[in-house]
Amino acid sequence: MPLFQGQRCAVTGASGSLGRALLHALHRQGAIPVALSSSPGPIRLQDGDQELEIETIAWKVGEEEALRPQLESLQLLVINHGINRMGARDAQSTADSLEVNLSSALRLMELFLQSAQPGDGRELWVNTSEAEVNPAFSPLYEISKRALGQLVSLRRIDAVCTVRRLVLGPFRSALNPYGFMRASGVAAAVLRQAAAGRELIIVSPNPLTWLLMPLTCWGRERYYRWFTQRPGQ
Ligand SMILES: NC(=O)c1ccc[n+]([C@@H]2O[C@H](COP(=O)([O-])OP(=O)(O)OC[C@H]3O[C@@H](n4cnc5c(N)ncnc54)[C@H](OP(=O)(O)O)[C@@H]3O)[C@@H](O)[C@H]2O)c1
Repeated sequence: MPLFQGQRCAVTGASGSLGRALLHALHRQGAIPVALSSSPGPIRLQDGDQELEIETIAWKVGEEEALRPQLESLQLLVINHGINRMGARDAQSTADSLEVNLSSALRLMELFLQSAQPGDGRELWVNTSEAEVNPAFSPLYEISKRALGQLVSLRRIDAVCTVRRLVLGPFRSALNPYGFMRASGVAAAVLRQAAAGRELIIVSPNPLTWLLMPLTCWGRERYYRWFTQRPGQ
């Protein structure tokens, strides 16, 4: 049976290339897609000659707490929004990259983890990037995505729900106009790997990503388990 049939599945960064592709792929396998978007207006998707209007929840970075009730109604949350201030190293771009790519993602992650109950089958997916282990030729992007990846490794240790990490190579979008994969193909591959039970989901033609990501996640998790305690101990 396809994952999440008849269940509410939300994606942040919903108006972007991968956001739309994930919503479309979720819809096609019978889930109820929910868009979390900082852009005005409802998200509409083209499904053959039919236009689908997706339930769209407006939010802004910094206003994650207001989403608490909506997050509780979701079976799946995909944290997918992101920015890439390519070539920048000024104070504002640094602050924006950390706020959008790291802090807001972390706040949403914590809200979702707090609302999960053992055995409820809910899932959190976090889209980091293969920039976790490879150069993206964009230092602020790498710094913010690496820190997000490290915190996913740390916080998933005590998570009661399934946490999957999406590690994606370059696909074409506003964030990366030079990407050579297509967002629709990437989204389909993500859902296939999730259905196969993978928690580390890699979609990349780069063999280094396939080699380094599992090693990095394994090493990080051992290190974090050795040097931290379970909350409340
Ligand atoms: N493209 C690539 O090559 C690539 C590779 C690896 C990983 N990724 C990751 O994949 C994710 C999706 O990227 P994409 O390539 O699909 O890019 P995209 O088309 O630019 O979509 C990113 C979306 O993030 C949301 N966003 C942007 N600025 C925001 C802000 N200040 N506050 C809140 N939301 C904001 C916007 O959606 P709303 O307007 O709906 O909020 C935007 O459409 C990102 O996390 C990116 O880092 C991309």
